[in-house]
Parts: sequence; C-alpha cells; structure tokens
Amino acid sequence: MGRTLTAFFSMTRNLSYGKVKKLVIGHTEQAADLICDTIGGDLYRINKTEALLPENIEYPKEITDMDTYDTVYPGYPICCHNMPAPVKEFLKKYSFAGKTIIPFCTHSGSGMGRSADEIKLICPDARLSRGLAVAGAQLLSDPGRIRR
Ligand SMILES: Cc1cc2nc3c(=O)[nH]c(=O)nc-3n(C[C@H](O)[C@H](O)[C@H](O)COP(=O)(O)O)c2cc1C
Repeated sequence: MGRTLTAFFSMTRNLSYGKVKKLVIGHTEQAADLICDTIGGDLYRINKTEALLPENIEYPKEITDMDTYDTVYPGYPICCHNMPAPVKEFLKKYSFAGKTIIPFCTHSGSGMGRSADEIKLICPDARLSRGLAVAGAQLLSDPGRIRR
C-alpha cells in the first residue's frame, strides 16, 4: 500500500452565529489529527495564519517527496462557501496526477460548498473521492464521526 498524506490548513477561527471566536486548536487541525491517528501516514500543515507580524510568518515546508504518496487528504475550513486560498495554492503547486484525493472540511453550515468542484478543476488528473464535511461544532461532540 502506498503512502498517505493528510495536508491541512486551519484558520483557527470559528464563525458561529455571526461571531468570530478564536480557537486554541482549529477545527480542521483537530479533524486532521483524528484522520491521521486513524489511518496513519504523514501530517502536513499547509500554512500558518497567525502571521500578522513578518517575523511571525512561518513559511510552509516544501514537500520534496510528493511522488511517493498515492492518497492525499486535503483538509480546510470552508470560507465563503469554498476552500481558502492557501489550499488552492497547495493543490496548484504539486502534481496530483494519478493520486487519490479525499478532501475533508469543517464548516458552520455550508458543507463542502464549492470546494469539491474547485479540486476537480485544479487537479483534473487526480481520482477525486467523495469528501467528508464535518460541522466544526460537531467535532467536539462527536469526534468518532471522523473515525467511522
Ligand atoms: C472568514 C470566515 C468565513 C467563513 N465562511 C464560511 C462559509 O462560507 N460557510 C461555512 O459553513 N462556514 C464558514 N466559516 C466557518 C468555518 O468554516 C468553520 O468555523 C471552521 O470549522 C473553522 O475551522 P478552523 O478552526 O480549522 O479554521 C467561515 C469562518 C470564517 C472565519
């Protein structure tokens, strides 16, 4: 069996009832941890958003062995019914031809939004599997949903 990569981006901010609340660990990071614990493989943070001061910017590491992964789980919070820009950049940066992509997202009501269509457009040569959309708040109450 080939290698698996869970690559996530987390805004670490939760929008609920019109209010933005800072989370200690983002919903998508929690989901990514659960996925990685359950299926194994490598975990990669796409970008860090706590980058208001230039010295705090944590540039993402390069993935030098992307060709060795055959399944990639890209994870992101839904933002304006779509995936956030750093995730699009990540998907454009590497070749996913022939790989299986299984997206997962956390959201506050939109489900996957337009993000699966976006992945099809950016990665036309990948095998796109049905993704998993988890309401951010549900993660805390039912973490087992990810494992199932
Ligand atoms: C700026 C912003 C825009 C958002 N837009 C949406 C949206 O369009 N649809 C939705 O369901 N949730 C939306 N959300 C909610 C987040 O997707 C949700 O809280 C997610 O679980 C946050 O994950 P994170 O903690 O990993 O960043 C938005 C949140 C923020 C901060």
